[in-house]
Amino acid sequence: MSFEQLETPVPLVDVDVMARNLDTMQAYADQHQLQLRPHTKTHKSVHVGREQMRRGAAGLTCATPHEATVMQQASDDLLVAYPLVGHAKLDRLFSVRDDVALRVQLDNAEAIDQLYAAAVRHDRAVAVTVEFDAGMHRVGVPSLDDAIALAHMVRANPPLEFSGIAFYPGHIREPVTSQDASLERLRHKVSEAVQAFTEAGLPPAIVSGGSTPTMWRSHEITGITEIRPGTYVYNDRTTAEIGACKWDDCAFTVLATVVSTSVKGQAVIDAGTKSLGREPIRGASGEGWGALLDRPEVIVARMSEEHGMLDLTATDWRPRVGELVRVVPNHVCIVTHLNDVIFGVFHPCASVVFSRSADPRVV
Ligand SMILES: Cc1ncc(COP(=O)(O)O)c(C=O)c1O
Repeated sequence: MSFEQLETPVPLVDVDVMARNLDTMQAYADQHQLQLRPHTKTHKSVHVGREQMRRGAAGLTCATPHEATVMQQASDDLLVAYPLVGHAKLDRLFSVRDDVALRVQLDNAEAIDQLYAAAVRHDRAVAVTVEFDAGMHRVGVPSLDDAIALAHMVRANPPLEFSGIAFYPGHIREPVTSQDASLERLRHKVSEAVQAFTEAGLPPAIVSGGSTPTMWRSHEITGITEIRPGTYVYNDRTTAEIGACKWDDCAFTVLATVVSTSVKGQAVIDAGTKSLGREPIRGASGEGWGALLDRPEVIVARMSEEHGMLDLTATDWRPRVGELVRVVPNHVCIVTHLNDVIFGVFHPCASVVFSRSADPRVV
């Protein structure tokens, strides 16, 4: 198939760029002897999960039990990095095949009680990492004493198994070159946690953290053993804007058609909020809801549900109605979630240096 045969708007993944992103991250983890456990909420694809495992990932991370039931086709070692509460969620978690090692990341006693009851009900061991708040103030126990108390509670309740500690540095979103102070605070916080748990007789075998904005500096966090970046597989406009990837590392785009040029200084595409989501650029300068892959200076300035208004004031380019464009979304995870099918873009000649101007085939 060619792009012209697709009904737009439609999500595309450049398979070569994705493969390079996967290779680079695995090489980084190997170089620093970190276990890589990619977060699959970004791609939600068994195929991509298998590609991550094939390259050496230690296992996969999921946000929901439903994702775990899907990702069991890709890995036999799954972490649900979310405090699971409620019978329905827990029963779904334990519906995962018996030979899959399960771990849950949680931060409160009620979640431990419920996980314990479900583990007993299903007669199945489950590992637990206790999450502490490293500065994001979302989930995670604020006090290390309370986190240690939770770890003791886990340990006292087999078939739950205490396997370590976890954090998510989602508050660090500033450009990579401005992260020094935040990373220093994080380093301090994690060292403090490892020391406190060790002194309490609970040396954490696993210290799990990591994110895409901090991905290349994870090894600076002393004591960390495992990283869980998700967005890196495709990257997005936010990741490029903060300098955690280059523009050419953005593998995911939404193919859209120019449908109107009636208003001066603008072109309208058939991709709006229902195709691109509505996530602002976070932690970076820049406006709009996405930018064109081949012309990053052209942004989606405004949107309604099925309309995206391209701002043409920064370009001489004057598209004609019917022209195809590829939009890099601000936050790719949301856009994946809006789609059941994503098309892979393959390039005809693998030996040619990757070029955007090559005539790609789509399958
Ligand atoms: C608990 C947890 N771990 C890891 C990740 C992956 O981080 P990123 O989206 O920065 O790749 C997320 C993302 O939301 C998360 O919530």
